[in-house]
Amino acid sequence: MKVLLIGGGGREHAIAAAIKKSKRVDKLYCAPGNAGIGEIAECVPIGVMEFDRLIAFAKEKEIDLAVCSQDDPLVGGIVDAFEEAGIRIFGTRKNAAIIEGSKAFSKNLMKKYGIPTAAYETFTDANEAMEYLKTAKMPIVLKADGLALGKGVLICQDLQEALDGVREIMLDKKFGSAGNELVIEEFMTGREVSALAFVDGKNYKLMSSSQDHKRAGDGDTGLNTGGMGTFSPSPFYTPEIDRICRETIYQKTVDAMAAEGRPFKGVLYFGLMLTKDGPRVVEYNTRFGDPETQVVLPRMETDIIDVMDACIDGTLDQTELVFSDNAAVCVVIASGGYPVSYEKGKIITGLEKLAAEKDVFCFHAGTKTDADGNVVTSGGRVLGVTALAPDLKAARARAYEAAKLIHFDKMYMRSDIGKAIDEKA
Ligand code: AMP
Ligand code: GLY
Repeated sequence: MKVLLIGGGGREHAIAAAIKKSKRVDKLYCAPGNAGIGEIAECVPIGVMEFDRLIAFAKEKEIDLAVCSQDDPLVGGIVDAFEEAGIRIFGTRKNAAIIEGSKAFSKNLMKKYGIPTAAYETFTDANEAMEYLKTAKMPIVLKADGLALGKGVLICQDLQEALDGVREIMLDKKFGSAGNELVIEEFMTGREVSALAFVDGKNYKLMSSSQDHKRAGDGDTGLNTGGMGTFSPSPFYTPEIDRICRETIYQKTVDAMAAEGRPFKGVLYFGLMLTKDGPRVVEYNTRFGDPETQVVLPRMETDIIDVMDACIDGTLDQTELVFSDNAAVCVVIASGGYPVSYEKGKIITGLEKLAAEKDVFCFHAGTKTDADGNVVTSGGRVLGVTALAPDLKAARARAYEAAKLIHFDKMYMRSDIGKAIDEKA
């Protein structure tokens, strides 16, 4: 069959690698893709929001299955557009992608259906939000309602910071219309775990757990980023935690969406915090996580096309999802200065050496091939180096060893991805 993958980041490279492993796929296209994806798929220069051009391309090439796992196109209705055009697509329809597209929606859903999450209030008026803050306990969390490239969350230590935050989000519109509505929520503490599930509208199948490292600097310091590295499985996601989450969160969310007339199909990402009062939902995403996918999919043994088919057809309950009994660590190599300002166009060396390593994957995020045929940097997060090993410690050592083979001017990576594993040892 012929598959069209939509997107061009590290997550898409990992999805492309999983699709390439499928015995059922003869041809893989990726729009727009990147330099790494270009080695295993044919890249097509069409943007993820150009639905009409994507559909025309899919028709011309007689695509059997399109796959999209990126927030903007999903929230913007790419699945609905493909379905209307009669093209089979794996992803979440617009009316269900709102679970990520609107934080006010997801918080209200959790409240209505009794799914554990931080206490909160929503506001459309900045003055009312500021009045509320004057009586609230600090620290406190402000969240712009809409999509804000993962940057619409402010953790405020005191009242002044919180008032400034309301001003930025609601009045200065730092995140655009995403700030028309504001969620103010209780600050929670605990370890974070990412739990990703395939969902077919009624049933879910959980993938192996993982943990992201969102802050730019070692020891979880510095600014929030798209994610500086991951490991899977999370040793903190114990069988007991899994049991509680299955009972109080996962099926309840799937059922709640169906009851709201918004059946969820695709990948549902549960961002969890393991608080002293039990696991709580920090956020939902309507897609694979990035860079969680880079450690989860290399460990998946089941043919991803079979699982995607089952999600579309509503037969996930008859599908087995199998993960290897091993571990993976992904270290993100970024451009110096990320996430604030950084240079692009730096020549990357060492890629061939890395390609020769066994059980190591180099997922490209922000790369492209320049006019001279060099692979150069084209974004903040440049590469994700994933290593597979029998256990987490070995995977971490291997990932860092492999990352050392790469070089480009001003490259930066955290040195403590997966360090938390030691606490569990
Ligand atoms: P989100 O974009 O919702 O994933 O939020 C980004 C990050 O902010 C999360 O991964 C958490 O580390 C942090 N965060 C969000 N909400 C809360 C909360 N209520 N309490 C503490 N930290 C939070
Ligand atoms: N790694 C966090 C996310 O994908 O939202």
